[in-house]
Amino acid sequence: MDMLDAQNAAAAPPPVIHREDYRPPDWLVPDIALDFTLDPAATRVKARLSVTRNGVHQRPLRLDGDGLTPVAVRIDGEPQADAWRMDGPALLIDLPGDAHEIETEVEIAPEANSQLMGLYASGGNLCTQCEPEGFRRITFFPDRPDVLSRYVVRMEADKARYPVLLSNGDRTGGGDLPGGRHWAEWRDPFFKPTYLFALVAADLVANRDSFATRSGKQVELAIWVKPDDLPRTEHAMAALKASMAWDEKVYGREYDLGEFNIVAVADFNFGAMENKSLNIFNSRYILADPDTATDVDYDNVAGVVAHEYFHNWSGNRVTCRDWFQLSLKEGFTVFRDQSFSADQGSAAVKRIEDVRALRAAQFPEDAGPLAHPIRPESYIEISNFYTATVYNKGAEVIRMLHTILGPEKFRAGSDLYFERHDGQAATCEDFVTAMEDASGVDLTRFRLWYSQAGTPRVRATLTHEPAGGQARLTLEQEVPPTPGQPAKQPMPIPLRVALYGEMTGEVFGGERLVMLEDQHQEILFEGIGERPILSINRGFSAPVTVVSERSAADLAFLSARDDDPFARYEAMQQLMVDTLVGAVARGSADHRPVIDAVQDTLRNSALDAAFIAEAVLLPSESFIGDQMAKVDPVAIHAAREALRRDLGQELEDEWRASYAKTHANRYEYTPAAKGLRRLKTVALGYLAASGAEDAAIIAHRQFRDADNMTDRQGALATLANSPWPERDEALAAFYDRYRDNGLVIDKWFTTQALSTRDDTVDAVEKLAKHPDFTLANPNRIRALVGAFSVNQKAFNDASGRGYRFLADMVLAVDKLNPQTAAKLVPPLGRWRRFDEGRAALMRKELERIVATPGLSKDVFEQASKSLG
Ligand code: TRP
Ligand code: ZN
Repeated sequence: MDMLDAQNAAAAPPPVIHREDYRPPDWLVPDIALDFTLDPAATRVKARLSVTRNGVHQRPLRLDGDGLTPVAVRIDGEPQADAWRMDGPALLIDLPGDAHEIETEVEIAPEANSQLMGLYASGGNLCTQCEPEGFRRITFFPDRPDVLSRYVVRMEADKARYPVLLSNGDRTGGGDLPGGRHWAEWRDPFFKPTYLFALVAADLVANRDSFATRSGKQVELAIWVKPDDLPRTEHAMAALKASMAWDEKVYGREYDLGEFNIVAVADFNFGAMENKSLNIFNSRYILADPDTATDVDYDNVAGVVAHEYFHNWSGNRVTCRDWFQLSLKEGFTVFRDQSFSADQGSAAVKRIEDVRALRAAQFPEDAGPLAHPIRPESYIEISNFYTATVYNKGAEVIRMLHTILGPEKFRAGSDLYFERHDGQAATCEDFVTAMEDASGVDLTRFRLWYSQAGTPRVRATLTHEPAGGQARLTLEQEVPPTPGQPAKQPMPIPLRVALYGEMTGEVFGGERLVMLEDQHQEILFEGIGERPILSINRGFSAPVTVVSERSAADLAFLSARDDDPFARYEAMQQLMVDTLVGAVARGSADHRPVIDAVQDTLRNSALDAAFIAEAVLLPSESFIGDQMAKVDPVAIHAAREALRRDLGQELEDEWRASYAKTHANRYEYTPAAKGLRRLKTVALGYLAASGAEDAAIIAHRQFRDADNMTDRQGALATLANSPWPERDEALAAFYDRYRDNGLVIDKWFTTQALSTRDDTVDAVEKLAKHPDFTLANPNRIRALVGAFSVNQKAFNDASGRGYRFLADMVLAVDKLNPQTAAKLVPPLGRWRRFDEGRAALMRKELERIVATPGLSKDVFEQASKSLG
């Protein structure tokens, strides 16, 4: 046994939890009363649980705990010393009867809580995060989502320090206490699992508004922030009201309490949390004004506000039976927030953005060592399964149901699901069954989308017999092997398909929905008098990779003519990918077809600026790499930059015209103005790539004169990639202007971490020592380290310094915040996709992580599986 093995053997590997092992809870807790005596250093938590035996058994009551020591335990009012025992972190109590009252008392230290799970301090305020298993860090309880309780929460605190005391439900009491203290009581009439509990004690102010529901109920809305941030809450408030109206209109779902509170905090492990009537948000998804937030930030605020609000039905009224069902609430809710955002602005651009995000985050996950189905079969740490697969592929699976059933039957299925399971903890199976029962459509095989991991590949071949006027579409699917799933069954894949006549440009017989059910399938089209061009997976109707040999001319045709905007975008992307993959393989490529297609798009006056800006962008370096057998990051970067330079030079007049057309606009947050701003910065990027002499001047002028963050940050990103002397001056000016705004300083870190310059690794190592860099704030970690790890050129530096930097950060963050540390690991797990040299360097870092004593189970799971 060598040193490494000895170390691993020393610590028992953490247990694996399996979906198949699900058993209903032994004890239920219909009521809980919590009493908090709040103090940042020492908070007392008293809990009174009414427990009832569930079924016939003799097993003890098991109350989960994490780092808790009982100060007192009472059973039916009697203090107990012997009737309970600790089983590791959990509290076990033998109970004679079928119903008892259990009281426990513990002390916790929120200001020492660096994991940001349970009760913790952020910016001098106290708040909670309980999903998935944070409640056990607050009090002893069966901390699982199928135990639903009615909560009464009393809290007291220093009034000057914490004037605002919030919890779930309605405020039912409060008042002053001696010694400058005060108290409040909240009651939530709805049964809920622990993960939806929340408490806030804070010195914050509210943007208040109200919403009248369809049935005429008045809901008081409040968004709580630091006083300076109050002017930045209007956009979130507007989005909240729009979400409430949208859920009534599109899903028939009304809000169910008299109050809805949102609290923004600066230190948060995730985007936001849907606690019943008391959503807690990462402040980056609440705060927005033109001077500090980009258009993308505005869109993200609206999307996340909607997402958390929609959880009130898809997640809270109907919750998850166990954590393997996470996609039941997350996939459905992401689909709902995507649909909401599509309805608020340009649906075409929203679809392009969502697919781009899926391909950037989920496709690599599905193709790597951490691949799992949207309903996983096992986990070590559930926090590691809040993934792009569960969220984004989960949303695509719901979208396919919508496509297959059609909007009316889908809505009937959703109504039935909510009616059947209101107040329950449900499963993915319950959801599919409701869809099946309401629609009459057999979804037996569709269920494979819940159990099989991996992105299916569909090979599509179109042949034409001009004599008989027939076209034959041959489809073949293959679902690649993934960890634990070597062999797969064919899945039902809904493909929206159209055939275009090469000469006339007409669509033959309109669009068809083709259901690919088998491994191999042929579809015959009649009456095809001229050579047809295949448009397939229109609207990205299925989350698959389509492989179809189409000529550059056919792709150019579709990029100019297809009437499905996504398909049009996709044709251009394919043309660009084919060109770039060819360039990497052969050392050079003919750029002409791409240049001509981009020129056509830029000159097409029927297209809006937002769409044009998306369509003319080259695919990312990582997406190009995903299309290749082995990733060569240096060659990919060179090929992509060469194409960018040619596009910039050949179309210089077009870029200047686009820039001029978009330049003069006054700031407004409308879809049209957003599109113009996007195109403006894209044009600036191409002008810079062209080497035009005045590009630096134009970029610097945009930076200096901008009246909004979108233009300012767009110019800064261009400057940050450049060798121009204006670069350092702009970075310094940006820093000075925003040094007191953490969210904008995050952008300052990210812009430098994403730079394509040769000195980026040095710069990032230096930034990690900047006084504003801190491991205590997850946003800051993601801004520097997370951004750096997606910078293909710098992260994959042949020296391995990028990999070492990331591993050092993982280990440093793990000591404070395991959840956030574990999310940094996956880029190292891509080693199989790289050359031997880089693969060895990445593995070395993963091995170093796994061999570190005292590792969290979060990081252990991600790093050990990544070595796999
Ligand atoms: N349920 C939250 C959402 O999707 C996710 C979430 C918030 C979360 N905080 C978390 C997940 C902490 C894991 C850990 O909106
Ligand atoms: Zn969610």
